[in-house]
Amino acid sequence: MFDYERLELVDIEKEAPEREPERQYYFMKKCRAWAEEEAAGRGRPLTMSVQTLGCQMNAKDSEKMTAVLEYIGYRETEEPTADFVLFNTCTVRENANLKIYGRLGYLKNQKSKNPAMKIALCGCMMQEADEVEKVKKSYSFVDLVFGTHNIYKLPELLYSQIQSRHPVIDVWQEAKEIVEDLPGKRKYPFKTGVNIMFGCNNFCSYCIVPYVRGRERSREPEDILEEIRGLVSEGVVEVMLLGQNVNSYGKTLEKKMTFAELLREVNKVEGLKRIRFMTSHPKDLSEELIDAMRECRKVCAHLHLPLQSGSSRILKKMNRQYTKEGYLKLVDNIRKKVPDISLTTDIIVGFPGETEEDFEETLDVVKKVRYDSAYTFIYSKRSGTPAAAMEGQVPQEIVKKRFDRLLKTIQKISAEITAARVGQTFPVLMEEVNSQDASLITGRLSNNEVVHCAGDRSLIGKIVPVKLTESKGFYYMGEVQ
Ligand code: 5AD
Ligand code: SF4
Repeated sequence: MFDYERLELVDIEKEAPEREPERQYYFMKKCRAWAEEEAAGRGRPLTMSVQTLGCQMNAKDSEKMTAVLEYIGYRETEEPTADFVLFNTCTVRENANLKIYGRLGYLKNQKSKNPAMKIALCGCMMQEADEVEKVKKSYSFVDLVFGTHNIYKLPELLYSQIQSRHPVIDVWQEAKEIVEDLPGKRKYPFKTGVNIMFGCNNFCSYCIVPYVRGRERSREPEDILEEIRGLVSEGVVEVMLLGQNVNSYGKTLEKKMTFAELLREVNKVEGLKRIRFMTSHPKDLSEELIDAMRECRKVCAHLHLPLQSGSSRILKKMNRQYTKEGYLKLVDNIRKKVPDISLTTDIIVGFPGETEEDFEETLDVVKKVRYDSAYTFIYSKRSGTPAAAMEGQVPQEIVKKRFDRLLKTIQKISAEITAARVGQTFPVLMEEVNSQDASLITGRLSNNEVVHCAGDRSLIGKIVPVKLTESKGFYYMGEVQ
């Protein structure tokens, strides 16, 4: 959120303030004055396209940057080209990187037709020195490059680019401070993500996130609660608490607080109806948290609990710090205490050294847990991670076959679970008009499943009872009751 009072007080005739967020407010105002002139010169408003790859964290960062750009004077457009094109990149798997270079190739052409166009790259991929070098060398038409730690500096960086008319590249190796009170532009007026922590300390051996997002830092609970109260006053009914490993929330705070304690506090916020959170690492999921989930009425009946592999041998090589048996025991415990919970997961196929037996252990866990749904990934080698140097990289044809087998097993179970819910009525938060059929509106159950029903847009943002009439595998058709 903007702190409008502080924003008003910033005087752009003076020197830039040192303090944040005032400093960025100052440059936002400076950029805004520039954008007004530009728009007048062109006889039309300036346009922007913010394109986001990757996870919920990136989506949240993009919401913040969109709000800043909007304040400056850019209007969102659906077109892939615009006066300002910002790519918020992901690097968790290699194909995300390839996608960006593909899109840049296309934009180069567009920029030759509109030389005033600005192209910016930020996010996880920019935290990798090799990628930044490649951009500098082969994509010199890119105007702005920054990383994950200085997203809040967008106004200052943009202003510096406007002034110098040269590319500005600023990537920090480490996070400095957590800057509060920058605005966010919500995709939906009634639900949004709220960062509760940044970074990750786990160093799973395949994962690049700890290198590009830095060490774990938690936000102060009061800042989080104040943000949520503010959001609720603006009409938000559902929040998703975001962190790479929310279960270790609070460990870096001076006044320690557990995630379970935070959840109980968020649950008390008046007017808030639903709470979700992401992502939970099984090794840190405490009994205390399971109790909080059971007792907090607003916490949704859904837990995303990444498995990654069902083989204890592979889990060890992945540095996940739990075993197959430990994971299954945890699931048992959760199901005992929160019987109606839906479980979803992430699984990687083809980790170095994965044998047929290891893969069958994964299938075994999938069959035992019976996930409502699962995200499945083919292992992608990320240079700089320990797994990239491991022996026994699995041949692609074998990986592909395992991947297809896994997908089939997951889909069959999902279909059985969803079919069993048909005929029952659940509260559904209505979210949008169906993109394919405007007579339908689409909403989500507490367990995050999607349902389409006949209805009009006046229901959007409301929680209404819906009877599930038909299961389509991973979504439902329903009737508003
Ligand atoms: N290869 C494939 N999948 C990966 N993930 C993270 N790193 C890799 C990688 N190198 C997956 C994990 C994680 C999800 C967000 O992405 O399953 O939970
Ligand atoms: Fe990556 Fe593991 Fe951290 Fe998740 S917990 S972000 S998989 S290192």
